[in-house]
Amino acid sequence: MAERQRKSWLDGAVGYEIYTRSFMDSSGDGFGDLAGIADRLDYLAWLGIDIVWLTPIYPSPDHDHGYDVADYKAVRAEHGTVADVEALLEKAHSLDLKVLLDIVPNHTSSEHEWFKTALADPSSPERAMYLFRDPAPDGGPPNNWISHFGGPAWTLDASSGQYYCHLFLPEQPDLDWRNPAVLDAFDDIYRFWFERGVDGFRIDVAHGLLKHPSFADNPKVREAGEGSGPLAKFFAFDHKFDMDQDDNVQIFARWQAIADNYDATLVAESGVTDHRRLARYVGPDALDLSFFLKPGWMTWEPAEIVAEHLSLADVEPNGISWVISNHDQPRPVSRFTRNEPDTSRGLDRSLAVTTLQMILGGVPFLYYGEELGLGDAIIDPAAREDPVATRNDTDGGEARDVARSPMPWDTSARNGFTTGTPWIASADRESAETVETQKNDPASAVHRYRQLLAVRRSFPDMHSGTYERLDAPTAEVAVIRRDSVLVIANLSTETVSVSAAGDQWQVEFLSAAGEVESEGGTITVSPELSVVLSATS
Ligand code: NOJ
Repeated sequence: MAERQRKSWLDGAVGYEIYTRSFMDSSGDGFGDLAGIADRLDYLAWLGIDIVWLTPIYPSPDHDHGYDVADYKAVRAEHGTVADVEALLEKAHSLDLKVLLDIVPNHTSSEHEWFKTALADPSSPERAMYLFRDPAPDGGPPNNWISHFGGPAWTLDASSGQYYCHLFLPEQPDLDWRNPAVLDAFDDIYRFWFERGVDGFRIDVAHGLLKHPSFADNPKVREAGEGSGPLAKFFAFDHKFDMDQDDNVQIFARWQAIADNYDATLVAESGVTDHRRLARYVGPDALDLSFFLKPGWMTWEPAEIVAEHLSLADVEPNGISWVISNHDQPRPVSRFTRNEPDTSRGLDRSLAVTTLQMILGGVPFLYYGEELGLGDAIIDPAAREDPVATRNDTDGGEARDVARSPMPWDTSARNGFTTGTPWIASADRESAETVETQKNDPASAVHRYRQLLAVRRSFPDMHSGTYERLDAPTAEVAVIRRDSVLVIANLSTETVSVSAAGDQWQVEFLSAAGEVESEGGTITVSPELSVVLSATS
């Protein structure tokens, strides 16, 4: 069989995640919608974005903000209709933008017809689409697996006496990916949307699909610590038997083959942190791309940030979707200055890391509002929406609401997001944080991001030249060359000198106000600054 070809439209592309319910509300119900997004695509084209990913748009009882899907082939009324998807695609394509939807295959909603039938009739084929198991001999859950969101990964179906598995909420029952009927059902869902012109999908919890057939207990590797939240408890285990099973890759290859027929792409959401294991998710026998989520969890630890990027890029210099931000984590402007008296460095640090990501190949993604330098939203603890916070007795450190507030378009009421009451109660943003104000200020965050994307576009070597890691003076510095483009990311607090003999280098982009000098093959870069240079000889 001929090897799969890389899609040309992925070369040099930059993605942008839209948290659908918070981007733009055209109907006044306080909920972001497809028509609102379509109306704002011009802004994304202006910014220099190529691919837009929309978080789930499907009907959902909303226990996990849309990641509990009740019908994969329909659109939730608050977001619009299938016709609105088609209209959005038409508008996007006219602007040369591709649109990815979010598919949630690890679990359905407990309100999905399949699960309702599975509960109502234990002898139905739908029952076998889920993971029902008999209790342990003591009557408790079948094994020690726990949910990401707190409590056991098993809930008792009292009427049958069996437990069902859910790696997230009880309202998110996991599908059995060893059942061919589940594979067939999702092939059909993919085709439904590809036939309508969708350009690809982000695959939710791609690393969770298959469970080990033994359903053995996961080994505990550490104590989570007093008062820790559900995610810390989850990561106290080695998820040997419930996550990242080797044979997931066969499912990916099957899906990517379907997508390839439509020139569509697939991007895994993978929480896998081992670089070699993650590299298995992409390539000729797997998916086009996978997210690497870890830089989106990290606080400001320069040496670790550099090491995580470089060692993954060394094993996979083309297939990673790099991010420092998404809808599940505090925003990087806040995260990168946590516990520091001076938080003004947050934007500069974020852009320094993103500048590095722009030369690491693959398709980097920005998260809506990142280009405005937004920090965490201010949300009244009593008005929290995220089930991770509302269903657990945590201190709020794990609440994801802070990254999900309305996009600040302008200085009018509700920052122009809606004429109604936003679904989430967050404080309005200041004028300087809005698109309107920043567009009028050439020194603003949005112009700095736009300039970075423009530089990447005008120097194709920056994404497609041959990847080469050069010697760096310290562990807090990364030096990457791709043919005629060089990026030096100095995340340290010292001025550093890098030797890049043999060429004359011209500065094309600075991530912050700082100084760069290039003389006699030595380039000097001031602290917490990333720089893009091009070879002039
Ligand atoms: C990852 C998604 O990004 C997150 O928002 C969701 O809660 C879980 N997957 C479960 O679907």
